[in-house]
Amino acid sequence: MPYENVILEKEGSLAVLIVNRPKALNALNKETLADIKAALEDIEQDAAIKVAIITGAGDKSFVAGADIAYMQNFSVQEARAFAAFGQEVFRFIELMEKPVIAAINGFALGGGCELAMACDIRLAAENAVFGQPEVGLGVTPGFGGTQRMPRLIGEGRAKELTYTAASIKADEAFRIGLVNHVYPAAELMAEARKMAQKIGRQATTAVGYSKYSINKGMQVDTDTGMSIESSMFGMCFSVEDQKEGMNAFVNKRKPNFK
Ligand code: CAA
Repeated sequence: MPYENVILEKEGSLAVLIVNRPKALNALNKETLADIKAALEDIEQDAAIKVAIITGAGDKSFVAGADIAYMQNFSVQEARAFAAFGQEVFRFIELMEKPVIAAINGFALGGGCELAMACDIRLAAENAVFGQPEVGLGVTPGFGGTQRMPRLIGEGRAKELTYTAASIKADEAFRIGLVNHVYPAAELMAEARKMAQKIGRQATTAVGYSKYSINKGMQVDTDTGMSIESSMFGMCFSVEDQKEGMNAFVNKRKPNFK
């Protein structure tokens, strides 16, 4: 299906979703969010796809935030509905079974930083810039930033970044745990593909169940989280992947996961 504001490329078991509004540094309006959602649903439903990468079109910006021009005359109700829609789209990334890697190739500000934080793994180019500049525009973060950032980098750092509207570069984002790795811009996509391939070689069900266990577990107390984990561990034994993985180990061969 062709999209107006995103490009969805499929390469074997990998899907690459490119947010494609370069004239606005890939800023998110409602149509772009709707395209991202539709593309994510396509990825989740496509049995051939194991891993997705999200990146931005061009070499300057991942996503420069929600579209400020689009939002500026919103009523209270429109603003609330827009935030709820952005939250729904980004939450889908966490709820889908397939892992999603953010390949952050430039500005990841406001809604862009929030999109990156909703992904499972964040890889950044050296020129990436992160921040939640919303308070400088007279608003709060609205696509999950007040919730995901403190969980990811701790409350103190999240409050500092949010209250000061400061932008930080990739090396600082790495230092505080906002991104997993930093690469020269020219190597970012190759590194993201390499990681996607490494994940794709594992048992798909076990990766998906691990994602579920981690994401659900992060929102509940430890005992409830442990119970989620033991349920998912048990579920693995109803799936062929477990038989193949353990049989391969016992017989000293490489597993051949379907
Ligand atoms: N919304 C709408 N348009 C945007 C945009 C945004 N978030 N970010 C950039 N653009 C547009 C610019 O208006 C400009 O358009 P024109 O060429 O038509 O003037 C074009 O993209 C290029 O941008 P700049 O000329 O500003 O490029 P630059 O290199 O000088 O600066 C930048 C880059 C620092 C990212 C700057 O564009 C910027 O500060 N953008 C806004 C970042 C921001 O505040 N994001 C948060 C938005 S609020 C939000 O996201 C709320 C939420 O949580 C839901």
